[in-house]
Amino acid sequence: MNTLFLPASAPGTIETAARILLEGGLVAIPTETVYGLGANGLNAEAVAKIFEAKGRPQDNPLILHISDVSQLPLFCDPVPALAYELAERFWPGPLTLVLKCRENVPKRTTAGLDTVAIRCPDNEITRKIISAAGVPIAAPSGNTSGRPSPTTAQHMVEDMNGKIEAIVDGGSCGIGVESTILDLTVQPPRLLRPGGMPLEPLRELVGEIAVDEALIRPLGEGERPRAPGMKYRHYAPKAPVTVLTGPSDRTAAYIQDHAPSGSGVICFSEYEACFPNCIVRTIGKSTDLLQQAQHVFDALRSFDATEVEVNEIFAQCPPEQGLGLAVANRLKKAAGFHVVALEENA
Ligand code: TXA
Ligand code: MG
Repeated sequence: MNTLFLPASAPGTIETAARILLEGGLVAIPTETVYGLGANGLNAEAVAKIFEAKGRPQDNPLILHISDVSQLPLFCDPVPALAYELAERFWPGPLTLVLKCRENVPKRTTAGLDTVAIRCPDNEITRKIISAAGVPIAAPSGNTSGRPSPTTAQHMVEDMNGKIEAIVDGGSCGIGVESTILDLTVQPPRLLRPGGMPLEPLRELVGEIAVDEALIRPLGEGERPRAPGMKYRHYAPKAPVTVLTGPSDRTAAYIQDHAPSGSGVICFSEYEACFPNCIVRTIGKSTDLLQQAQHVFDALRSFDATEVEVNEIFAQCPPEQGLGLAVANRLKKAAGFHVVALEENA
């Protein structure tokens, strides 16, 4: 298949993307978090193609993207007052709500669940494509299953060129990690995935929010996370990753002591010059969590490029506050929770 490349600002992009979606095709769409691999979320056959193109397990449901909060009750029932309050405050934006779904949402989209994950992305072109198509777009992150999520159109080309009808190029994603997923069907509401919307402002509005166990530790045999996707090894480059938590001077010293020459290193930019015998990727200053979020997937992905061959990767990890919770989660998942925790004054 010849994949069309559609620059976001080119004339006709919105109409072309909407037409392909309505004809049952797949279109990669830019969002503020990561690129999505979109299909008409109400067309089960089209949605099935997403699973095929990504190699995604069938039991992993998709997020439905809408262009306006007014569309919530078209696909969800009931819509609790809290959902409207959250939408009012944080949409369009990197927050996905899990609600009971209506009959018109295909089982293919929800992987047979009676709930649906739904969000309104903060990307104008993508919202215009949704409006022009007149249907919600079902879209997982656009990566091949298991790989780090795509944050540029180039990443989409790497994973999906020749497999999908079109890629809409909207530049680099402003946030760089996926949306925060909040389940509103349970009491108290439960965080299923930390993401682009930090937990602190959500707790200010919602009050108590439970945190799913799957976010904190690797799951045991037979345990099931509430977001089905959280059980898979994820975001992982081919080489094994070790994540270092603790004060950044100490994590840098640990890497200097333990990384064999030629290892991959993901570090804060202050430490760039500390690992002369390693292949180094910086993700931003230790204090700049947004930069770290923007660059973490690109850094992980870069070690899979054919010209670099590393056997092992070591990564400095930010503290789990604000966006740091999501950055740390993606690094730890990429490492299969292989974490070395260094203490303050040890
Ligand atoms: O930022 C994002 O959320 C991106 C962009 C494209 O919007 N999308 C994304 O989708 O990250 P995906 O499919 O890679 O991750 C969605 C996660 C999966 O872990 C899935 O299991 C979970 O959401 N999920 C989807 N529907 C669910 C539901 N009804 N209940 C619980 N978890 C659900
Ligand atoms: Mg994903």
